[in-house]
Amino acid sequence: MRMDALRCIGCHREFPEDEILYACPSCGNLLEYVVPISDLDPAALRRSFDSRPLGVWRYKELLPGFKGKSPISMNEGGTPLHRCDRLGKELGLKNLYIKFDGMNPTGSFKDRGMTMGITKARDLKVKAVVCASTGNTSASLAAYAGLAGIKCIVMIPGGAIALGKLSQAMMHGATVFEVDGNFDDALDLVMSSSRELDLYVLNSVNPFRPEGQKTAAYEIVDQLGEAPDSLVIPVGNGGNNAAYWKGFSEFKDLGMAKKAPRIYGIQAEGAAPVAEAFRKGADKIRPVKKPETIATAIKIGNPANWLKTIRAIRGSGGDCITVTDEQIVSAQKMIAKNEGLFVEPAAAASFAGLMKLIESGDIGKSEKIVCVATGHGLKDPDSAIRVSNKPIKIDASIKSLKKNLK
Ligand code: F0G
Repeated sequence: MRMDALRCIGCHREFPEDEILYACPSCGNLLEYVVPISDLDPAALRRSFDSRPLGVWRYKELLPGFKGKSPISMNEGGTPLHRCDRLGKELGLKNLYIKFDGMNPTGSFKDRGMTMGITKARDLKVKAVVCASTGNTSASLAAYAGLAGIKCIVMIPGGAIALGKLSQAMMHGATVFEVDGNFDDALDLVMSSSRELDLYVLNSVNPFRPEGQKTAAYEIVDQLGEAPDSLVIPVGNGGNNAAYWKGFSEFKDLGMAKKAPRIYGIQAEGAAPVAEAFRKGADKIRPVKKPETIATAIKIGNPANWLKTIRAIRGSGGDCITVTDEQIVSAQKMIAKNEGLFVEPAAAASFAGLMKLIESGDIGKSEKIVCVATGHGLKDPDSAIRVSNKPIKIDASIKSLKKNLK
C-alpha cells in the first residue's frame, strides 16, 4: 500500500496525510505533500496519463489520494497553451507561449487547487471551509464548496477586490466578510478563526491546494513535448510559482521531462517583498505594510509562501523582478490586441516582466518561453474600462459615423 505523507519544508518532520495541519508544530514552517516518486513506474504512469484528457485529474497518481468514487471536479485544467506569433514577432522571439489558466471553470488557476482542496475537505468531513482572498480564491472556493455542499466563509480586504470576483463569491452562496484591513490582515484573521472556530483553511498554506496547481506544469510539458527554457509567472502570496516548480521537478525526477525551466517571478512594484529579497540576495523577506497596485490580485505585502517561493525561484536558477502598473496595463493591452486573450492585470504582469527580462538579456530571444496568464480579464471590467478609450457617442446617422471614424 502506498504511504503518502506531508513534510515540513523547514525541519522535514513528517505527518500523516489525514492530519489537519497548515504549519509544522515543531518549527512553524509550511508543509508540503511528498509524492513517493521511487515507488512509481514512469512507463505505466505515462500510459495512464495518455489514456485521459488533459486536466488536473489526468495526473491523479501524482496527487494526494481521495476516498470514494471520484473527486469534486468541474473538469478544471486542460487550459490552452497559446502560441503567440504576433507578440513573439514584436519582441523578436520565435517560441513564445501563454498558458491561459483564466480558461478554468471560475476564470482563474485557483480551480486547479480547489478541486484538490475541496475533495480533501470532503474526505476529512470538515464542517466549513474558509479563505482570505484578493478575489479569485474566494470565487473558486465558493463555487467548489457549493458543489460539495460544504458551508463556505470568505474574507476579503474592504473595497479592494475586483467586482467580477466579488459577484462570483456572492452568487455561489458564500458568507462574505469584508475585513477592515488588507489581504494580509484578512489572512491573519482566517488563521486564528480556523483555530478558534474549527474552520478548514483553503488558502495556499493548505498543503493540498498547491498539489492541484502543480498540474499546470505537467500540462505544459505534455502540450509542448518538453519543458520550456523559461517560465514567467506573477507572484502574490507565493503559492503558484512554488507549485509549478514542484510540478516541473517531479516530472524531471520521473524522467517525463529532461529539464525544469528557470522560473521568473514577477511582482508589482508597490507590492514586491519577494523581488526585494532577490535584489538584496536576502534569505528572508521584509513585509510591505501598505501594498499598492492596479493588479489587486497580487496586492500582498506579506506572502505566506515566501520561503517556498524563494527556494523555488533560486532552485530553478531564475529571478524575481518588479513591473510598474503602467507596464502591467500596457502588457494587458498588447496581449488583448495581438493575441485575442483578455487577461486580468495580475495575469498580464508575467508578460510585462518578460519584456523587461528580454531587454536585460536575462532571457534569450531563442529560448522556449511560457508566460502564465493566471486569471481572465472579465474578472476586472472596471480596471479595463478605466484604462481603455471610451466609446464614441454618435447620432444614428452615416454622416455622424463618418465624421467620427478616424
Ligand atoms: N494571479 C492571479 C490572477 C491571482 O488571483 C493570484 C493570487 C496570483 C496571480 C498570485 O498567485 O498568490 O499563488 O502567488 N490570488 C490570491 C487570491 C491571493 O486570493 O485570489 P500566488
